[in-house]
Amino acid sequence: MCGIIGFAGDKEAVSILVEGLKRLEYRGYDSAGVAIVSPEGELQVKKSKGRLAVLESHLSEEKPLRGKIGIGHTRWATHGEANDQNAHPHVGQEGKIAVVHNGIIENYLEIKNSLIKKGIHFTSDTDTEVIVQLLEYYYKKYNNLMDAVYKVLHRIKGAYAMGILCSDCPGQMLAARKDAPLLIGYGTDGNYIASDVTALLAHTRKVTYLEDDEVAVLTADQVQIFDSDRCLAEKIIHTVAWDVAAAEKGGYSHFMLKEIMEQPEAVQKTISPRIMEGKICLEELEQAGDFLENITRIYIVACGSAYHVGMIGKYTLEKMLHIPTEACLASEFRYSEPLLGESTLVIVISQSGETLDSMAALREAKKQGAKVLSIVNVMGSSIARESDVVLYTWAGPEIAVATTKAYTTQMVLLVMFAVYYGERLQRIGEKEYGEIVNGLLQLPEKIQRVLDDVDEFQKTAAKYFNHSSVFYIGRNLDYALGLEGSLKLKEISYIHSESYAAGELKHGTISLIEPGTLVIALATYAPLIEKTLSNIVEVKSRGARVIGLATEETAPVIKDQATDLFVIPKVHPVLQPVLGVVPLQLYAYYVALNRGCDIDKPRNLAKSVTVE
Ligand code: G6P
Repeated sequence: MCGIIGFAGDKEAVSILVEGLKRLEYRGYDSAGVAIVSPEGELQVKKSKGRLAVLESHLSEEKPLRGKIGIGHTRWATHGEANDQNAHPHVGQEGKIAVVHNGIIENYLEIKNSLIKKGIHFTSDTDTEVIVQLLEYYYKKYNNLMDAVYKVLHRIKGAYAMGILCSDCPGQMLAARKDAPLLIGYGTDGNYIASDVTALLAHTRKVTYLEDDEVAVLTADQVQIFDSDRCLAEKIIHTVAWDVAAAEKGGYSHFMLKEIMEQPEAVQKTISPRIMEGKICLEELEQAGDFLENITRIYIVACGSAYHVGMIGKYTLEKMLHIPTEACLASEFRYSEPLLGESTLVIVISQSGETLDSMAALREAKKQGAKVLSIVNVMGSSIARESDVVLYTWAGPEIAVATTKAYTTQMVLLVMFAVYYGERLQRIGEKEYGEIVNGLLQLPEKIQRVLDDVDEFQKTAAKYFNHSSVFYIGRNLDYALGLEGSLKLKEISYIHSESYAAGELKHGTISLIEPGTLVIALATYAPLIEKTLSNIVEVKSRGARVIGLATEETAPVIKDQATDLFVIPKVHPVLQPVLGVVPLQLYAYYVALNRGCDIDKPRNLAKSVTVE
């Protein structure tokens, strides 16, 4: 969703801002802009609808923006269509203050109406404009920018991360946040704000995370952070483990392809530090004392692909732990009045650690006294910070909107958790424990073997990229896997696709199968292969074209029914989806490539969804 970058330093700001915005492009956006204050206090703003290239061409055609302090923004429209007026930064009617904002101001209409009554003229349809108009109103009244900022923060309701410039204070940039991420970066050539660490990696890896209700004041050589009572806050400066190369394409045509190819390494990094002498060691849980004692119910809560991991987790956790487990969409969970308590474990899964619905579900769980464990990729993210225990996936930065390596590492970590906890509860036998640990250790090499078949997926995608509708079918873990395969295809290729539990077909969906319909039959789950075969035969006999996905073990069972067949190595059944998803990712990627889609930045989608 929207992205923020800000710089206060000893270099011209404009190129730093534009370069930072380029690193935020992956989040999804429809307009962009920058504001810079010159040393003499001239506030200059350029913004435009469309890709950053449009903004860049305005910046190069017109008078250059001068100044070493500035804020930039990529907007993903919520209130008001994507156009030049609604793009950020927004400037108050006095022309003194500029604001960039991520989030939603829920009471913006009420504030807007009261300001209009006071004679203030609005020029956009955004909720953000009320922040800047209100700021100018209070600034005029109190003649003090910090007073005005605190007044505004008390008045607005909703979620925000914001950067503020004022032409009367040309050496200063202010920032504040509530329920939306904002980091401060400490560089050698100045200080930064950013909504996402990837925007800062080229300049610094030293960061601090702004907390809710804190206000930061940045100059070229100082950062001060104040809490809600305006007292100076003591902050810890963290060093981010990611380097700038990890957030670059490195010769690949798309981040998505690069990230698919990085999966052996990402899985290796997630597993290796946690297996010692054949034992799974989850230190984070060891240190958490009786955290896992007396759990009688588990909810896995997440959005999008992370929810699909939760679906897989439901099968695995119930099998290993014998504890009733439900996978819930975070957007539903929070409003479903879940009955939680001390004996409930809520597992929140999130790549970004910033998804608003997942965050809200976490808070609801904590409010009701449940224990919260999160599986997160971004260190220091909001979900990570508010959870009781965090298990980090070590996937590195994920830039493509369609998640791949974060999904596989989340699955791996959830299986590791299930096995670790199952052993603690003495509900998993020594033999199975050993088999899964061995399976985990072999995963990176087996994923690589699947990736080595890339040409095959490419060829099949070239055959079928024109189908307007695709059905994924499977049972048990294959059903959960199909949900992810189908999501991958629809989000990047815009082909309508659905995933069904194969046993459910006869209850309705089979009426959609006609000669030529494309069905991707997932048949990697060996215990139910005969049943899956029956369902494949059902669609086949109605004329469907079937692409089968099977393991070395199950392929002989289904091969006669499949028009095309992907065969992957066999691994312990609970780990099979980790291998199974790779062909589905590559298939979706090459279909989208054949259709000429904008793979890394699919229309209407955002990498991190920080609004409801
Ligand atoms: C967006 C992304 C998905 C992701 C989902 C949840 O929709 O496009 O790829 O699965 O958000 O994001 P999270 O960061 O919480 O895993």
